[in-house]
Amino acid sequence: MIPCHTQYLSADPNGLAKAADLLRRGLLVAFPTETVYGLGGDARNGEAVAAIYAAKGRPSFNPLIAHVGSVKAAQRYVQWSDQAEVLANAFWPGPLTLVLPLRDGHGVSSLVTAGLETLAVRVPAHPTAQALLEALDGPVAAPSANPSGRISPTTAAHVRAGLDGRIAAVLDDGPCGVGLESTIVGLAGTPTLLRPGGVELQAIEDVLGSRLHLHQSGDLLTAPGQLQSHYAPESSVRLNAQTRQGDELLLGFGAVGCDYNLSVDGNLNEAAANLFAALHDLDKTGRPIAVSPIPNDGLGVAINDRLKRAAAPRD
Ligand code: TXA
Ligand code: MG
Repeated sequence: MIPCHTQYLSADPNGLAKAADLLRRGLLVAFPTETVYGLGGDARNGEAVAAIYAAKGRPSFNPLIAHVGSVKAAQRYVQWSDQAEVLANAFWPGPLTLVLPLRDGHGVSSLVTAGLETLAVRVPAHPTAQALLEALDGPVAAPSANPSGRISPTTAAHVRAGLDGRIAAVLDDGPCGVGLESTIVGLAGTPTLLRPGGVELQAIEDVLGSRLHLHQSGDLLTAPGQLQSHYAPESSVRLNAQTRQGDELLLGFGAVGCDYNLSVDGNLNEAAANLFAALHDLDKTGRPIAVSPIPNDGLGVAINDRLKRAAAPRD
């Protein structure tokens, strides 16, 4: 990784043109999506993709999501199917990623797929992400814009804290609305939930008219990214806590006395949007973190998935 000066660009026509130009030149730009900030590089340019892994310090067996502007653009890179069509119609643009078999002549760097025969594709809904993809007219590989294993960024300030001096630019357009990464559905074989996220499982099953196979953790071939300790703050994290112990700070949910409340009203959407900012803020104190129980339905499934990884034993 070669240190560089990081530019902070606003999401106006001038900033967007600069960002697209940097991507075209094979450089890295962090940009907002409705889920979290992504660390973007041109997915067709192997050196740009290698630079993403280097900037994040990410293990190279972990494949990336290719962001595209439309269904039509996605179809240039993957073998489309009826199931893909149904899910894309219902949830794109939006926080859903589909894993599909690569198409002949796709032109995507094999570093994006980490050598797999499938590609994860997503059409983000954020207007700034849309404008950037339109300006580039190409697929943008983008993991969350944080050092590998750390908490995902939902503001440009989070990106700066983790990656300043390691990437060419950050396109700043305020906080992300959803706050949790996309739901990932594998459609290369039996439809499978590979990662819970911003679209609820039930909504996907309703649209598909069938149940999704649930991914078993440890199945590294189909979802190499599902490392157990992930989204980890520096401090320790204790789940399902009713009260603080010792020096702990309490991350609360609902009507509880606490140091940071994800949602006083017990609203899971609000809690999802606040989750990573809360972990970033509490982590700055260096004190251990205790977390209130979060109901395991709706977006609570994805929130609990991230919290479990934040609390998992570290290497
Ligand atoms: O909301 C999001 O999805 C954000 C924003 C920036 O779009 N991106 C994101 O990317 O969360 P990342 O790299 O942090 O997570 C990508 C996940 C990883 O768990 C990876 O293993 C999985 O997608 N993945 C990517 N390609 C895959 C493939 N071909 N087969 C199975 N899993 C794949
Ligand atoms: Mg990530």
